[in-house]
Amino acid sequence: MKGRTSQFQGRPPGFIFSKEREPRERKSGPSRAGTATLHCEGLPAAQLAHRFGTPLYVYSVSAIRERLEAFERVFRKVPHTICYSVKANSNLSILKLLANTGCGFDVVSGGELARVIRADKRAAKRVVFSGVGKTRDEMRAAIRAGILLFNLESESEMRVLAEVAAGAKRTVRIAFRVNPDVPAKTHPYISTGLQKHKFGVPIGEARGLYAKASATKNLKVAGVSVHIGSQITDMKPFAASMERVAELVRELRSDGHRIEYVDAGGGLGISYEKGSSGFEGPVADYAEALLRPLRKLDVHLLLEPGRSIIAAAGILLTRVLYKKRNGTKQFLVVDSAMNDLIRPSLYQAYHEIVTIAGDGSSPNETVDVVGPVCETGDFFARDRSLPSVNEGDLLAILDAGAYGMVLASNYNTRPRPAEVLVDGKSAKVIRRRETITDLMRSEV
Ligand code: LLP
Repeated sequence: MKGRTSQFQGRPPGFIFSKEREPRERKSGPSRAGTATLHCEGLPAAQLAHRFGTPLYVYSVSAIRERLEAFERVFRKVPHTICYSVKANSNLSILKLLANTGCGFDVVSGGELARVIRADKRAAKRVVFSGVGKTRDEMRAAIRAGILLFNLESESEMRVLAEVAAGAKRTVRIAFRVNPDVPAKTHPYISTGLQKHKFGVPIGEARGLYAKASATKNLKVAGVSVHIGSQITDMKPFAASMERVAELVRELRSDGHRIEYVDAGGGLGISYEKGSSGFEGPVADYAEALLRPLRKLDVHLLLEPGRSIIAAAGILLTRVLYKKRNGTKQFLVVDSAMNDLIRPSLYQAYHEIVTIAGDGSSPNETVDVVGPVCETGDFFARDRSLPSVNEGDLLAILDAGAYGMVLASNYNTRPRPAEVLVDGKSAKVIRRRETITDLMRSEV
């Protein structure tokens, strides 16, 4: 039987188990001196839940900054731009925070582009636009905004972009997103670099396409882009695909094209199970995998990390509504559900769950943590060993900062959670909790 403190490995600097402060809601109760509780930076998680309600997404500014800085450090030797992948978490305040550090952005829709512009208009010139189905309207908006690069995914799309650019009397920089046919060991839904996937153009056909693009008015060939999938923790596929891209860059240059940019996409995975194993090592290995093949190529490297920047910087706080037993199974029914965080249901993803308060001595029990949605697939954890909790206690679902809120829905007419950004001892609501009235607003 493990106690709470030994179970919890933390996600410093954002989320730590600390004895320093007591949750406000406990203050009037019996003295709990010496109790270690989950904190986000300088604030007890229980206090945040009390102030803002649950379910609640909580993000840490210092955790976001730390990860960005780690990226900057390992890529400092080459000209590069981090184009944070907006799809991972598109909250305006988070985009603004990133834009203020000089980040660029990877967008896949006109909506994401509009968010970037709203967060910081000046960041538009550091935007790359990816995605297999860009519409004319989206292209027009991106041209108007003056983005850095269009990542094209088909010949048809190339023709449409040329038409739209001609209509706008502009010349736009393009790259083709090549599909290197490299398997990435990850969940099949988020692996993208094989020929059977819808993404990119086959790398073997790239030279022909670049020849056509450079003969097309209003398009300026500027780079090569690749993205092989997400939550990849083995560095070999990154290295293998970058080898192929580097080879292509050499060929394209010998064909007379000016290739300034290599866009390496995103995909660096995180350790959902062992949060404390650190980020410095993995990101350094990642840089090594990308930079070795690119040596001597003299390109400006674009990176599109999403998860690796924001996942560990966010948690989802939820309260236990009921404990119930069906036969031998013990369930914790919590006030958050698959509509708030769908990753466990959709990808059988593991998220560490921790209890918030206690002295670390509670015995563990094996539970399923489930939500109130009417689906058997509505669970956060199955057969998980957790310190015993009571109805009304709080749980924190860790590493929920990426692909959490952005994938939230209103299924079962459930308003989506509020989001709070913590910086030291200050907490700011960066998205208010939805109301049921909000949910019905656009219906007749
Ligand atoms: N660039 C492109 C072109 C992408 O398609 C993606 C992610 C990224 C960058 C960012 O990848 P990251 O660094 O976050 O791995 N909902 C899934 C993940 C879907 C990823 C889609 N594309 C999940 O929750 O695991």
